[in-house]
Amino acid sequence: MENNKKKILITGGAGFIGSHVVRLFVTKYPEYIIYNLDALTYAGNLENIKDLEAKGNYKFIKGDIKEGEFIRSLFKEFMFDAVVHLAAESHVDRSITHPNDFIETNVLGTANLLNAFKEIHSSSFEGKLFYHISTDEVYGSLGKTGLFTETTSYDPQSPYASSKAASDHLVRAYGNTYGMPYMISNCSNNYGANQFPEKLIPLFINNIKHSKSLPVYGDGNYTRDWLFVEDHANAIDEIFHKGKMGETYNIGGFNEWTNLNLIKLLCKLMDEKLNRTEGSSEKLITYVKDRAGHDRRYAIDATKLNQELGWKPSVTFEEGLEKTLDWYLANENWLDNVTSGSYQDYYEKMYN
Ligand code: NAD
Ligand code: TYD
Repeated sequence: MENNKKKILITGGAGFIGSHVVRLFVTKYPEYIIYNLDALTYAGNLENIKDLEAKGNYKFIKGDIKEGEFIRSLFKEFMFDAVVHLAAESHVDRSITHPNDFIETNVLGTANLLNAFKEIHSSSFEGKLFYHISTDEVYGSLGKTGLFTETTSYDPQSPYASSKAASDHLVRAYGNTYGMPYMISNCSNNYGANQFPEKLIPLFINNIKHSKSLPVYGDGNYTRDWLFVEDHANAIDEIFHKGKMGETYNIGGFNEWTNLNLIKLLCKLMDEKLNRTEGSSEKLITYVKDRAGHDRRYAIDATKLNQELGWKPSVTFEEGLEKTLDWYLANENWLDNVTSGSYQDYYEKMYN
């Protein structure tokens, strides 16, 4: 029976977004076998998907997409019908200090997956799909008005954004040159459970909890468009099952916040949850040196996804943020575990 089941490889499934995608696919589609390939870098954590270990339609594979020969033999062994590719180096600040890690994983790693997928389906791509998960950061930075649409020209500004843009180009090139069926989605900033506390929201939750200073880059008037991670996972599910081959879909919640306004809201909610005097967390705000090449504003136009596939976010920002804060406060062990060891070195180098 198992031989007839569709085999889907999800890469990066021990990370933040990947863990939510893997959980959704494993629980919603018992008719698939979900293979989760992850190198378990600092950002990958088996705790994120512990509840799935015993599921019959799920297998975890520890492995690195940078290793071409390994990827080739893995694809030959399992003959995956589809790939949902999330594995990546994902933090802009780390891409500024270590750009090659991003080029190797995000560009070379994606090329290794594309080559292996092409090789195993060289006789026919019928019914196959390579679905690449990307970011709105490939479009660069917006001025005060306007939104990124699927036809906005690429203009990546950070090593992270450039490496993701390069991987998007490779996927389209394999579609155009070899007829590989593909789809790409570019999503705005995600927040929710399991996000590594190097990114703004979990970092600030952790710092507020420990009454540590809140490092606001530059003037804090940078704008991001925030989407609850489970809504991103739902959009990926919709696109995977109903999207058109060769198409790109922008995913976002029409939910723009300046960093400062978002941080003030976080401080207020955390004061309430921790029974602290109103205004005490805001006092932790500290303006620090700006990020090099900091993109001023991102904002996604998700009209196409809504009109063509009927997707829309299931929660408001207030609901999503509430769920997120509750999760971090209820999962202190998770936060303590990921912030011990090498995290301390990272934090020292980054902020002191
Ligand atoms: P993350 O850093 O939390 O997780 C990345 C995962 O990939 C980790 O589990 C890590 O172990 C794994 N990984 C890294 N290098 C690998 C390698 N060489 N081989 C195999 N596995 C490797 O990232 P995330 O925030 O969950 O992002 C997932 C994807 O979504 C990325 O492709 C990212 O570009 C994209 N994306 C993220 C956001 C966001 O706000 N976080 C927004 C839009 C798109
Ligand atoms: P981040 O979560 O790193 O996402 P991205 O840079 O991919 O959008 O950062 C979100 C915003 O918050 C961005 O404008 C940078 C800013 N920021 C700070 O001001 N301080 C911090 O310590 C961090 C991590 C981010």
